[in-house]
Amino acid sequence: MSETPEITPEAVESAVDAALAAIAAAADTAQLKSVRSAHQGEGAPLAALNARLRDVPKDRKAELGKLVGQARGRVTQALAAREAELAEAETAARLEAERIDITALPSRTRVGARHPLTLLQEQIGDIFVGMGWAIAEGPELEHEWYNFDALNFDVDHPARQMQDTFFVDPVDRHLVMRTHTSPVQMRSMLERDVPVYVACPGRVYRTDEFDATHLPVFSQIEGLVVDKGITMAHLRGTLDHLARELFGADAKTRLRANYFPFTEPSAELDLWHPTFKGGARWIEWGGCGMVNPNVLRAAGIDPEVYSGFAFGMGIERTLMFRSDVQDMRDMAEGDVRFSEQFGMVV
Ligand code: DAH
Repeated sequence: MSETPEITPEAVESAVDAALAAIAAAADTAQLKSVRSAHQGEGAPLAALNARLRDVPKDRKAELGKLVGQARGRVTQALAAREAELAEAETAARLEAERIDITALPSRTRVGARHPLTLLQEQIGDIFVGMGWAIAEGPELEHEWYNFDALNFDVDHPARQMQDTFFVDPVDRHLVMRTHTSPVQMRSMLERDVPVYVACPGRVYRTDEFDATHLPVFSQIEGLVVDKGITMAHLRGTLDHLARELFGADAKTRLRANYFPFTEPSAELDLWHPTFKGGARWIEWGGCGMVNPNVLRAAGIDPEVYSGFAFGMGIERTLMFRSDVQDMRDMAEGDVRFSEQFGMVV
């Protein structure tokens, strides 16, 4: 305390001057904080002068008390004013730094869109996976045995003829581009243990024209169930469920007698499409039936113990009447503007 000068107007004034100069020199709120502790805090010259009030004679206490009190008040005020000023400047600087121009033109990178056929194929796959089925795949370049013989096609069945099937050289290797996903039925039965519950999506090939309703390369999804006690009622229930999942609660299916070599009995599958663009109506959707005992036998499964059902439908056709696509060629051309209409699903 001994260095603390007497309380005189000069001493007070010089402490105030020093404080005001330091306050004015503080360049930011952090610096101001240390100025505050140096000039207003416990060890500050003014605080020391204030402490000396205890020692002054009674008759001068009021006068000197007022002198020191006013001095401290000036410093407090100057601190508050500088603090407000600095805080305002700092806020303005931060706002300026964070400024974004909401009128600026964005530069967009096109991210493309997934193809609606991929999306539909996955959606159908998910419906079966949701029922506990597995997804099975097979090769697109297939042996004739899987594509035809194992499926009970006669050697002279018209589907084998050149007008439908892409045969692959050399012919004596008996390779074809698979004409349907049904060969995956046989592969699944041979590769898996019974019971079998599989959905098999994939590309198929036929020597068809490239026009609004035909593509030489298109996709199908095949379903196959082999288990004990499987009946046509299970087939109907499964198809109705698929129809409702894809086409809404009012959708249903209808079976009309037909012939396929690998099913017996066989049926043409029709779909009641409740929201079809031109009004609700029946639409041919695919083929189905109970797995022919000859097919089960070819897979080494005893038809006296097991039975099964199978079905198959075209995915392009399904997309066509589900999303009102007029021309199948749009699905083959890969123009992103076509895909984008189905949304940017990832
Ligand atoms: N594979 C047949 C086709 O491409 C469709 C088909 C019919 C599949 C009946 C089946 C079925 O599984 O049981 O025309």
